Amino acid sequence: MNAGVRHALPSVGEIGVVRVELGVRSYDVWVGAGVRERLAEVVAGVGASRAVIVSARPAELVPDPGVPYRVIEARDGEENKTLATVSALCREFAEAGLGREDVVISCGGGTTTDTVGLAAALYHRGVSVIHLPTSLLAQVDASTGGKTAVNLPEGKNLVGAYWQPKAVLCDTDYLRTLPEREWRNGYGEIARCHFIGAGDLRGLSTAEQITASVRRKAQIVSADERDAGLRHLLNYGHTLGHALETETGFGLRHGEAVAVGTVFAGRLAGALGRIDQARVDEHLAVVRHYGLPWRLPANVDPDRLITLMGRDKKAATSPSGHLAFVLDGPVGAELADDVPESAVRACLAAMPHD
Ligand code: GLY
Repeated sequence: MNAGVRHALPSVGEIGVVRVELGVRSYDVWVGAGVRERLAEVVAGVGASRAVIVSARPAELVPDPGVPYRVIEARDGEENKTLATVSALCREFAEAGLGREDVVISCGGGTTTDTVGLAAALYHRGVSVIHLPTSLLAQVDASTGGKTAVNLPEGKNLVGAYWQPKAVLCDTDYLRTLPEREWRNGYGEIARCHFIGAGDLRGLSTAEQITASVRRKAQIVSADERDAGLRHLLNYGHTLGHALETETGFGLRHGEAVAVGTVFAGRLAGALGRIDQARVDEHLAVVRHYGLPWRLPANVDPDRLITLMGRDKKAATSPSGHLAFVLDGPVGAELADDVPESAVRACLAAMPHD
């Protein structure tokens, strides 16, 4: 890890608030030490008289919501992102007597946010949900923006709904026990923010980096909630990133794969004449600053990667023989859906390998 990377967690008092503007569905994302203690206040604002807390963390890490509640244990991990989990949650909501005016609270990483968010979207055709994300990845990305989904054997995130939370409480105290690999998982998403309009976040505290990343995401989601255009920017570095996750059997964590994908996106943009060499180099510098991997793992097959990238959801609109990437350029990052396969192949061949 780059010696410059410190997980600079804030002292009490350093709190950021980001508003996600979506008309009557607008909400705040709170970032800082101890912000989970605002839960009761937020629940009171929702007007719920009962809560179900679905938690992948020990009970003592979950604050009192201020109304009668039941805690349901959850498990993080991609293998639990299933319709069976959502069905089990909805049955527990029913057993707890949760009504349409009540509230569901998630406490955990991205899997918990996604499954609980989807269960909340479906139960009684939609009940209020509040997220308490506990991993850096979930705080920076998954908990904000209202995308919820589970996997099918046929593919990742194939069944889901847009369901915005009433609030998100990103308590940085949850990060104090995060394993190093989980930090990297989140830093991959923070690093890609550098290239999608968040500015240079290096040198800021962790809480400031989370706040700035969420602020950029909030701007994008407010402009394009349903992912019709601008929201594609959030997938910077993800086209190769998703392919690498699959090709390595998830041996690379999401954020690590996105980091390699970000370096690749910079090199590809350079090869296509969209950015100069200094900007290409900036991609590597930012990724390395966060202590993230930047080389292709050993033994990945370029043909397989190209096939997988062709299946990426943003590639569906590409003309045949071309691939779609979110690429940097003279006016910033944008979706380029006309990247010749030959250019991708050449760039892959030129990527440094482990
Ligand atoms: N994680 C990408 C998005 O929310 O659109």
